[in-house]
Amino acid sequence: MLTYDVVVVGAGGAGMMAALSASENKNLNVACLSKIFPTRSHTGAAQGGINAAMGNRDNTDSPEKHFKDTVKGSDFLADQDAVEFFTKRMPEIIQELDYYGVPFSRDENGKVAQRPFGGASSPRTCYSADKTGHVILHSVYEQCLKNNVTFLDEWFLLSLVVEEDECHGLVAMDIKSGEIHAIKAKSVVIASGGFGRIYWNRTTNAFNMTGDGTAACFEAGIPVKDPEFVQFHPTGLASTGILLSEACRGEGGYLLNKDGERFMKKYAPDKMELAPRDLVSRSIEMEIKAGRGFGEGLEAYVLMDLRHLGEEKIMERLPQVRELALDFEGTDLMKEPVPIRPSCHYMMGGIHVINPETLETPVKGIHAAGECACVSLHGANRLGGNSVADVVLFGKYAGIGARKTAEQRTFKGDTLLTNKATEWHDKFHAMRQKEAGKSLVEIRNTMAGTMWDNVGIFRKKDEMVHALETIEQLIEDYKETFIGDAAVRYNMAFVNYVEIGNLLTLAKAVAMGAIAREESRGSHSREDFPERRDDEFLKHTLIYKEGDNYRLDHHPVSITSYTPEERVY
Ligand code: FUM
Repeated sequence: MLTYDVVVVGAGGAGMMAALSASENKNLNVACLSKIFPTRSHTGAAQGGINAAMGNRDNTDSPEKHFKDTVKGSDFLADQDAVEFFTKRMPEIIQELDYYGVPFSRDENGKVAQRPFGGASSPRTCYSADKTGHVILHSVYEQCLKNNVTFLDEWFLLSLVVEEDECHGLVAMDIKSGEIHAIKAKSVVIASGGFGRIYWNRTTNAFNMTGDGTAACFEAGIPVKDPEFVQFHPTGLASTGILLSEACRGEGGYLLNKDGERFMKKYAPDKMELAPRDLVSRSIEMEIKAGRGFGEGLEAYVLMDLRHLGEEKIMERLPQVRELALDFEGTDLMKEPVPIRPSCHYMMGGIHVINPETLETPVKGIHAAGECACVSLHGANRLGGNSVADVVLFGKYAGIGARKTAEQRTFKGDTLLTNKATEWHDKFHAMRQKEAGKSLVEIRNTMAGTMWDNVGIFRKKDEMVHALETIEQLIEDYKETFIGDAAVRYNMAFVNYVEIGNLLTLAKAVAMGAIAREESRGSHSREDFPERRDDEFLKHTLIYKEGDNYRLDHHPVSITSYTPEERVY
C-alpha cells in the first residue's frame, strides 16, 4: 500500500504552499496529489492580485485597516480571530513569495506595486500584471520540487477513509492507468478548490472545479459551513462568463448601462465601481432588470469601458484581460467597451475548519485550506484579492498544522483502506460495463440551469424550494446514469461521473443553506427577506451529511473587534 506521512490533495496555491511547509521537516514523506498537472491548477486563473497591507502605495495602510475592510466586506459574518491572524501575517507572506522568485510588478521605487480593489480603503492589492496566480503557482511549484515533494499528477481523490473521527488516509485513482489505490497517511490536507461548476453554464471556474475534496469531507462526516454564500464576480464576459479581472476597475475602468450612464453612482456613490463584489453584481443585475442593459434574458449585459486607460497601460497591466476579451468576446477593449455580466466565481463556504492557525477540521488528521475550506475569513462576501492571499497564507499554515499532526500520529487503518479501495474498484468496473442509463450531461445541465435560475444573485423561498426538490430528484436520477466508456486508462467519463455526483451533493447543501437563511447578508440576497437580521442570523450555517440525510445546525461567529453595523459604501 502507498504510504506517506502527509498527503496534500490539490496542487493550486493552497495545496502547494501546504506541501512546501509540510516538507520543511525532511524526515517526513510528503505527497501532493492533483487531478491535473500542478501548474494548470485554477489558482493560475487568478488575475488581479493578492492583498497585503504593505503600505507601498499608501503609507497609511495597515493590517488593522485590512482587518476592518475584510470584516465589513464579509457583512460581519467573518470570524474576526481568523481575519486578524490573516491580515497581520500577509505582508511577510509577500516577502516570502518575493524571495521564492515571484515576479511581482514594481512601482517607481522598485517596491512591489499595489493597485486598488473593491471594498478596500487603501490600494493594497499586490500583482504581477494580470497573471498573479499563474506566476505564484509556478514559483511555489519550483520550491516544492526543491524540497522533494512527491507529485502524483493526474490522480483523482475518490474517498477519505475515516473511522470514529480519525482519518487513516484516502483512496484515489491514477487516471493514467485506471488503477485505484489506497494511500495510507498520518495527515491529509484538502486543498481541492471550490465548486463553482454547480453553475456550469455561467462561471469563471475551470471545468474541473467540482468540489471533490469538499464532497469527500462531507461524506466523511465533516460539515460544510455557510454553503449558501456564493460569490458572483461582476465582470464575467457576457457570452461565456470567463473572468475579466477586478483589476480592470482597479486601474480605472468603469461600467455603463445602455443610456451611457455610470450607474454605480446610484448604488455606491463613494466607492463607485470599487464597491465590493456583492454590491456591484447586484447593481448590474438591477440595471438589466430595469431594462437599462443590452440584449435579453440570459444574453443581457452591460458594458465595461477601459478605452480611456490607453494602450500603454492596458498592455502593461492588463494584457491577459485584453486577450481574453478578444478571443472569447471578439471585442478589442482598447477600441470599444466590452460586454460583461456577473458570473459565478467563488464559494465563501466550504469544509468546516475549527482552528485558523492549524486549519484543523473536526476529524483528526484532516486539515483544509484554500477555497474548499471555510475558516471563515470571508464570511458572507469575499473581497477581491483576498483569495490568493487566503490560499497562500492558510495553505502555509495548513502545511505546518499537518506536519505537526503527522509528527504525533502513527499509521493505522489498513483493512479499512483496502476495503474502501475494493469498493471503488468494483464501482469503476461496474460503471465501465453498464451499457445504458440516464444522461449525465442532461443531469448536469438541469442542475446548472436550476441553480442559476433559482439560487442565483437574487433569491426567494418558493424558487429555492423548487431548486432543492429538483436537485433531490437529480440525485435519484444520477443513480441510474451510465458513462458509455469501457476504457481502463484515462477513463475521463468515469472521472466526470464522480465529479457530477460531487456537484449534486454540494448543490443540495447550497440550496438548503440558502432556504434556511431568512435574511439578506453579503452575497445572499433574499427578495422575501431584504434586511440583514443579526438578532437571528449572526451565525454560521453547518450542514452535516448523515447517509443520504442532510442535517442543518449552527456555529457561533467569532467577534473580537468590530461590532456589526450598517454596511454602506
Ligand atoms: O478579479 C480578479 O482578478 C479576481 C481576483 C479574486 O477573485 O480575488
